Amino acid sequence: MAMRMKDKIAVVTGGASGIGKRAVERIVEEGGRVVIADIQDDRGLRMQEDMGDAVRYIHCDVTAEDDIKAAIAKAVSTWGRLDLMFNNAGTGGDPAPVDEITVEGWDATQNLLVRAVVLGIKHAAHVMKPQGSGVIINTASVAGLLPGSTPIAYAAAKASVTYITKCAALELAPFSVRVNCICPGLIATPIIAKSMGLASQVADQTIDAVEKAGALFQPIPRGGRADDIANAVIFFGEDAASWVTGVVLPIDGGIASGRDPREIGQNWAKIAEAVGGEWSVQP
Ligand SMILES: NC(=O)c1ccc[n+]([C@@H]2O[C@H](COP(=O)([O-])OP(=O)(O)OC[C@H]3O[C@@H](n4cnc5c(N)ncnc54)[C@H](O)[C@@H]3O)[C@@H](O)[C@H]2O)c1
Repeated sequence: MAMRMKDKIAVVTGGASGIGKRAVERIVEEGGRVVIADIQDDRGLRMQEDMGDAVRYIHCDVTAEDDIKAAIAKAVSTWGRLDLMFNNAGTGGDPAPVDEITVEGWDATQNLLVRAVVLGIKHAAHVMKPQGSGVIINTASVAGLLPGSTPIAYAAAKASVTYITKCAALELAPFSVRVNCICPGLIATPIIAKSMGLASQVADQTIDAVEKAGALFQPIPRGGRADDIANAVIFFGEDAASWVTGVVLPIDGGIASGRDPREIGQNWAKIAEAVGGEWSVQP
């Protein structure tokens, strides 16, 4: 197999679960080495144990600037450089509707999903600018492209991440540091069940059920997998993408392309029924 991440040094926030975990595994499979930065110490340490020398775990709460700085410092002190920063940690955020949102809930969501991304870019840039190379990848969401699919605090945070990605891409381009972001659709990870109130341990057991139940959530009729996102991390991270920056990439089975004809078809059928006409277009 071609080693697309050979000798690349990465930091992955939220690397102990879901999308981040699969990204860690893929980077290592492709010849890279990774600092996993997360708050789930048991899982992170288990990955370090299982994956051997290519992986180090550090406790890192991305809402604390010093923790982010320390995660990057660990990559540099262990392996001498930083090639890839994956700002990915997150939760479903505050679920309140706009007329009930509290200052605390709003701030906590933005601090975790937006400020942490900015700080991840900031501290990665401190290493990458002098290096004259590096890739920063941020996890946004299809919810940041199309309002209506998640609560407002999460959607607004993810929309910010898409804009921050482009701003930072332009600022860092003169130093050959690239910044891109991925907008996942529904991906079968524990975040879905956790957002619905299930405990972390229980949510871990729901991946297959979410993937199966999510088969019709988007135009392509299969559930989204962490692998779908991890593959894009490898694409952005490898040297073959050295001219790719400022990209906001939906990976969502088609959600961001527009309204799903299957749903719209049901509405057209009602109009057709109301006027005594016919609606026969079946995508
Ligand atoms: N799964 C989806 O459908 C989906 C869709 C769009 C975007 N996303 C985004 O993908 C990213 C990863 O989510 P996932 O689906 O893999 O969920 P997940 O719950 O499996 O993983 C998220 C990880 O982030 C960690 N984390 C949470 N708060 C943290 C903090 N303060 N500091 C450090 N780490 C923290 C968690 O411990 C966990 O390991 C998130 O930013 C999420 O918003 C997910």
